[in-house]
Amino acid sequence: MIKPRLYSGMQPSADSLQIGNYIGALMQWRELQDSYDAYFSVVDLHALTQPNDPAELRAKTRRTAAQYIAAGIEPSRSTLYVQSHVSAHSELAWALSTITGFGEAGRMTQFKDKSARYGADATNVGLFTYPVLMAADILLYQTDVVPVGDDQKQHIELTRDLAERFNSRYGQTFTVPTPVIQRDTARIYDLQNPTAKMSKSAESDAGVLWLLDEPSKSAKKIMRAVTDSEGVVRFDREAKPGVSNLLVIYAALSGRQIAAIEDEYAGRGYGDFKKGLAEVVVSEFEPVRERALALLDDTAELDRVLAENAGRAASVANRTLSDVYDRMGLLRRV
Ligand code: TYM
Repeated sequence: MIKPRLYSGMQPSADSLQIGNYIGALMQWRELQDSYDAYFSVVDLHALTQPNDPAELRAKTRRTAAQYIAAGIEPSRSTLYVQSHVSAHSELAWALSTITGFGEAGRMTQFKDKSARYGADATNVGLFTYPVLMAADILLYQTDVVPVGDDQKQHIELTRDLAERFNSRYGQTFTVPTPVIQRDTARIYDLQNPTAKMSKSAESDAGVLWLLDEPSKSAKKIMRAVTDSEGVVRFDREAKPGVSNLLVIYAALSGRQIAAIEDEYAGRGYGDFKKGLAEVVVSEFEPVRERALALLDDTAELDRVLAENAGRAASVANRTLSDVYDRMGLLRRV
């Protein structure tokens, strides 16, 4: 039986993934990789849109790949590779940029937020065309589903629009992908600022739980997480964003219902609740951290696995790219 295809990726934009990446995306990836023909990339070309030290970018790319594997993505079953190793990504992005409206790209909220934050002159063109490259990632693999956190929804809508536009202009070429967004865990918030999304590029480190941090550091951050003065462990997004966020994390990692956790901590204070959560987080992260660090001890082997997987990815991607060029009227080289 042919399995439907799944595609997703993360930017190697920090030394470690954060718990939002883990709960919002990686946990789904791990679960879905059995029932799908899955492709997972480390999107290093996307990371070039931010200022980077070259040696650090290389290290972050390996670290991101190692965390995928450590979290349970199996490179012998799923195709786990580095985006820049498959040149078709940049090539399809160019072709797709010619059918993307300037206004359409300008309406992407992530671009609008970033350009507002840094100013037009400090905003590079790569940041503007970023979603077109993301569409290329997805469409090259004839992807059926894209599991992501809620912040990527608009980019996937653009991807669908571009696929439909191309298909109607040039004939059926791309599968139109569907996003898979887990309603309850699609957005994990910053521990210090629980109405803002947790992000690898957060201004303050205190609100971010890193997968590769020392367990004691993560525990400390949880103990210091912002709550409220009510002192009751109950879910209420509006009135209690801090406690609600902690409950979502607790439920996601322990596989328990929020109501059961509320019951367990009824009549107890936030201190007990946070201690319980810290144990859950540390016991989930510790083995992932150890496996990731072990994989990073042997970068030659990691690079070999990534190269092998890139070969697999390229054979699928190049087929799509060649169809696209053909349909758009680019002359074939004989
Ligand atoms: P990135 O690297 O910002 O994030 C990787 C994944 O983690 C999810 N995520 C979150 N989920 C819940 N709560 C949070 N606080 C949180 N922060 C991040 C993201 O939604 C994402 O699923 N543009 C993408 C990378 C990309 C991609 C692709 C994804 C490039 N090409 C093709 C899917 C398919 C990005 O910057 O993700």
